[in-house]
Order: sequence, then structure tokens, then C-alpha cells
Amino acid sequence: MKTFSAAHALVLATTAGQGLAAVKQGISDSIYNRLVGMATISQAAYADLCNIPATITTVNKIYNPQTDINGWVLRDDTRREIITVFRGTGSGKNLDLDTNYTLAALDTLPKCTGCAVHGGYYLGWLSVQDQVESFVQQQAKNYPDYALTVTGHSLGASMAAITAAQLSATYGNISLYTFGEPRTGNQAYASYVNQAFNTGSPETTRFFRVTHANDGIPNLPPVEQGYVHAGVEYWSVDPYSAQNTYICTGNGAQCCEGQGGQGVNDAHVTYFGMASGACSW
Ligand SMILES: *[C@@H]1O[C@H](CO)[C@@H](O)[C@H](O)[C@H]1NC(C)=O
Ligand SMILES: *[C@@H]1O[C@H](CO)[C@@H](O)[C@H](O)[C@H]1NC(C)=O
Repeated sequence: MKTFSAAHALVLATTAGQGLAAVKQGISDSIYNRLVGMATISQAAYADLCNIPATITTVNKIYNPQTDINGWVLRDDTRREIITVFRGTGSGKNLDLDTNYTLAALDTLPKCTGCAVHGGYYLGWLSVQDQVESFVQQQAKNYPDYALTVTGHSLGASMAAITAAQLSATYGNISLYTFGEPRTGNQAYASYVNQAFNTGSPETTRFFRVTHANDGIPNLPPVEQGYVHAGVEYWSVDPYSAQNTYICTGNGAQCCEGQGGQGVNDAHVTYFGMASGACSW
């Protein structure tokens, strides 16, 4: 695995950045700890939520045998938060979804005009939509003052993004944390999500799109096939720390995408030192 020093990373980011790209080094400890907390849950989702903090209660399992989409609705009574997490790729059925780049109209969210998303993940979403909506509704009804959060890694990141976009039509103030997210939809979808999650600046955003070093998955599916990213990118380079996390806003291939990684590589599997399903936290 290629190691990136912070200084090296910044040079790469600024030289790779085009046009409106803007890169800022360093985030607060509280945001950093939050990103690490959500990464822990997302990586634990590969191994039945192993070693997640004891303050978190597992409320419901989300599962569809046809697509093998797996997820959970959790509740953190300390933080007063309802968390929905999706597992990343864990089977051949999931790989079939990953590789289906056909853009599918986002018919479940009609107010998102002209929106289309990754065809495989749309099938994944359709396969669990009823479960997700009823589980979240139940918790939101019983805990009306709790915040809603959605998270996941890789395939789970795109599932989280589509789910959060959908839930944002019903609930205010949803937060979204994705790790190693593939490009999930077209420009109309990205614009809708950016507006819904106030991504205009790092101060207001509720969509934290976390990337790592040269993770190759955020470079897929290709831009040439109509895919773009949404959210504010939080790019973690090694050795990971709050100081070595960059906030990347604006257009153009910068930060993670600018490193030229393609597909599943070492940087994709590990976030903040935690490998998917390794339970080493
Ligand atoms: C790919 O996704 C599209 C849109 O969701 C779907 O119509 C099509 O059946 C999928 N293809 C395969 C091979 O699953
Ligand atoms: C939104 O939720 C966050 C916690 O996720 C909370 O800190 C914030 O006060 C909430 N904002 C509003 C407007 O409810």
C-alpha cells in the first residue's frame, strides 16, 4: 500500500484539482471523532456489528434474501439518535448489484426531478424500502426528539445515500456519513441531495462523504457514464488524524478522485485504521 504524507497529499490534491476545487487541511476533533464513530459502525456492519459501543441498541435487522442487502436500525440513547447502517459488499448477489451501472430513474422519490441512480443499488433500495421506512417511522414516532443518521461503507455507502435522500423527503435534519462511496447518481440527483443536505459549505453540510487516500471506489462508476458525486468530501490521508483530514469542496477531480485509484484497493478497505469486518476497534 502506498503511504501518503500530508504534505505530499496536499501537493497532489492541488495539482490534480481543476477550476473551482477548494481544499482545506484539518478538521475539529469533535467532527473527526464523529467520522471515526460512524466509520466504526459501518465497518462493524460487515461482521454483525461486532464491538460497537455499548451505548448503542440494535433495534431492527434490515434484510432481503434476493439482493442480500443487510442493514440495521440502531438507537443511541446517549446521543439521542436513530442510526440506520448498511453493510457493504459481502456476496455474489451484492457484486451483481455493484456492477450494474445502468442509471435507473429514482421513481420512489418523484420530487427529485430527472433524478437517476445506480441501477444495481436502486434494486437494492427497492428490495428493502418497506422495511427501512417502517422501522425508521416506528423509532421516530417513539423518540420524536432524536436525530436521524444514515451511514455505510462502499455498497453500504450508496445504499445509505439513497436511503437518506428518500427519508429526507419525510424527516427534517437527517445526517448522512458515507465511507468509500461509489458515485451514486446523475447530476440531477446530486443537485437534489446537495440541496437537501445543505452541502453548500462545511459549516452547514449534513452529508459527510468520507474518502481515504487513493481509495479507487469513489472513481466508479465513471463520470463518462453520467455519474457525479454529491456531499462535502472529507478526505483522510495517513497517518490518519483530524489534522490529516482535508475538506474538499467544488468541482473537478481532486482529493481522493485526483489520486487516480481504480476499484477495490487497500485504501478502500481501511478507514481510520479499521478494516471492514476486522473488529479491531
Ligand atoms: C440493472 O439495473 C436496472 C435498473 O435498476 C434493472 O432494470 C436491470 O434489471 C438490472 N440488470 C440486471 C442484470 O440485474
Ligand atoms: C439537527 O441534528 C443535530 C444532531 O444530529 C443537532 O445537533 C441539531 O441541533 C439539529 N438541528 C435542528 C435544526 O434540529
